[in-house]
Amino acid sequence: MTSCCLSDFSYKKLNYKKYVVDSRLRYFKPHATKIEKSFAEEISFSLSQDSKFINPKFFYDSTGSSLFETICSLPEYYPTRTEIEILKSLESDLLPFLDKETKLVELGSGASVKTKLIIDIFTKLQSKTDYFPIDISEILAESSEQLLKDYETLHITGIIDTYEGGLEFLKNYDEKKNLIIFLGSSFGNFTPDDGKLFLKNIFSTMKSGDLFLIGLDLVKDKNILESAYDDSADVTAQFNLNVLSRINNELDGDFDLNNFSHYSIYNENEQRIEMNLKSLMPQSVIVSKSNLHLQLVKNELIHTEYSHKYTVNQIKQILNDAGFEIKKMWLDEKKYFSLTLVSKN
Ligand code: AVJ
Repeated sequence: MTSCCLSDFSYKKLNYKKYVVDSRLRYFKPHATKIEKSFAEEISFSLSQDSKFINPKFFYDSTGSSLFETICSLPEYYPTRTEIEILKSLESDLLPFLDKETKLVELGSGASVKTKLIIDIFTKLQSKTDYFPIDISEILAESSEQLLKDYETLHITGIIDTYEGGLEFLKNYDEKKNLIIFLGSSFGNFTPDDGKLFLKNIFSTMKSGDLFLIGLDLVKDKNILESAYDDSADVTAQFNLNVLSRINNELDGDFDLNNFSHYSIYNENEQRIEMNLKSLMPQSVIVSKSNLHLQLVKNELIHTEYSHKYTVNQIKQILNDAGFEIKKMWLDEKKYFSLTLVSKN
């Protein structure tokens, strides 16, 4: 069977609409966004539980995204720079796994330094490189422009959907091998159960021969971990508190940010950073668009994020359990962070 191309591909049946920006940039978007609950609905549910929480995916409005960028260059926040250091060293190890037609698929997107390091490797081998970022947010188009300027042989096809939706879409796209990358230890946000489901989903959308590269943060000294999530410039605190501003702005909330503090600890048993917002006093808060009238007691916590840390053996275990075969694993010198390449055979 010859590899097909977009015109053969019945994306319409999958209910996606195609938008062509120019000859090297197009994107697909589902016609009807799947029965995804709105921000207002999710907040209405998650803040009316006995143990209140806010899903960390809501951190990333434009302020949150730029605060996260700042976090990535903080002296205490080692993950980003460590992962970049590893990526810089893996070219000769990764090349043998790629061929002239391998597509690069990224879960989450951005014109990030990290993406570019991988594209550098692809463009060494290929005369045309296809990059498929999958992201629910539409900032895709902006970040793609810079990449297209930087790489003349790059073609970008954005998929504006959930990771699972996007991978399902790609499953029937063509016969070419995919390298799916999922960097930054974003996987660490999942609870272990959700993480298992997620990996199984990825596995099931892969063709035999496809590759998956995942970046995961490693267990290390508690002080190093706690400073990474409670930095001296208080950027992480602002990042955490910003989600309340977002609720105020978008859902007509009246959170007083002065009445909350950033509270982040490393739970050694669960091997995870637990980020919370702590209510500094008894208070009531209204979130109009979520129909909420909250009562918070002094020291009550709103959980906002888990960031799980793994041992090398645990990483091998969870990837094997999902069905993958481990091809290669890279660590930095200090063994702070890992990149693991797996395949579906
Ligand atoms: C983007 C989810 C990988 O868990 O380290 C950084 C987010 N939160 N500082 C992480 C984050 C607080 C980050 N991830």
